Amino acid sequence: MQVYFDNAATTALDPRVIEAMVETMEKHFGNPSSIHAHGRQVKTLIERARKTVAGLLNAAPAEIFFTSGGTEADNTAIVRGIVDNRISHAITSPLEHHAVLHTLQALEKQGVTRVSMLQVDKEGHVDVHQLEQLLKENPRSFVSLMHANNEIGTLTDIEYVSGLCKEHQAIFHSDTVQTMGHYPHDLTKLQIDFITGAAHKFHGPKGAGFLYVNHNMKINPFLYGGAQERNMRGGTENVYGIVGLARALEISYAEMAEHRRYIQGLKDYMVARLKESIQDVRFNGDMDPENSLYTVLNVSFPCTDIADMMLFSLDIAGISASGGSACSSGSDIGSHVLTAIGTDPARPNVRFSFCKNNTREEIDFVVHKLRELCMEKA
Ligand SMILES: Cc1ncc(COP(=O)(O)O)c(C=O)c1O
Repeated sequence: MQVYFDNAATTALDPRVIEAMVETMEKHFGNPSSIHAHGRQVKTLIERARKTVAGLLNAAPAEIFFTSGGTEADNTAIVRGIVDNRISHAITSPLEHHAVLHTLQALEKQGVTRVSMLQVDKEGHVDVHQLEQLLKENPRSFVSLMHANNEIGTLTDIEYVSGLCKEHQAIFHSDTVQTMGHYPHDLTKLQIDFITGAAHKFHGPKGAGFLYVNHNMKINPFLYGGAQERNMRGGTENVYGIVGLARALEISYAEMAEHRRYIQGLKDYMVARLKESIQDVRFNGDMDPENSLYTVLNVSFPCTDIADMMLFSLDIAGISASGGSACSSGSDIGSHVLTAIGTDPARPNVRFSFCKNNTREEIDFVVHKLRELCMEKA
């Protein structure tokens, strides 16, 4: 049996997405910037995709910019948001993805902005009182806080954070890469400056993403060149990726409630099976379904003697998952997220992440293997 439980890393393409992309590949090869019929047809596909994405998010098409993925969207929001608005203070958390953390660190190193790190508790919640205090002391800050953490799944109440940001004239960016296509984002309700998406996290293609930029936010181009993306991102568009992204998001929204129920059921089932099968199994992150991404389950195992071998042993058994340990003192390899929430560095941790294609039989198989591993060596 081959089991894929690494859907937070990437997901398989939905066959309907492949169909939409292949049809475009076969029928539409024109350059969307060409003014002749071949070009115009392709331009229409891009604009239709933009309208679809904007419609699903309750945004305006002019607020959606297609990018090469989540990393580019996060980088752009942060660099352009800070530089073009002359922001001298940014606030973030140590749990952010490297697409955010490394970008902010680079700006800090270049002397563009100071960066304040919020404290986090052991379940991965950011300290919102500290955020409020920092915003009071530094109005017009740039705040970057992710919606759901990609390693431990803990959710941040971005509606609440957006309220605080508005009150203190702060610019708010949220990395929504892990929740896009899994939770509804209604931008008429959420007052935010930037959110981001990557198609491959919701059964779309890799190398295609988007950045939402609120119409009130004025920024300079991300890439200088041609007039693509309304002069904001030069370069011939990734047409097939954009078509696939829009189709994937459309399908995700149409089937969201059903998949959410199903995947939450898988996660609950795995938690129950692990608890009854392995002594002293623990879970990293908030385990309340209201505050936790339903696709992610981060498990901490007691078998410290096989910590280095855990993922390898699972791989040998046909199980694809990911994870790592907290960094032990003096080392900088390991998970910055598990380190920040104070996970015991000696215990092996594995992130299992699910999608609509997974089954309970797969969970039974994985739990059986995990039990074997922990019993053999612990
Ligand atoms: C939270 C988060 N942000 C950003 C990214 C980067 O997305 P991409 O690999 O599409 O650039 C990822 C991907 O792992 C992610 O999980």
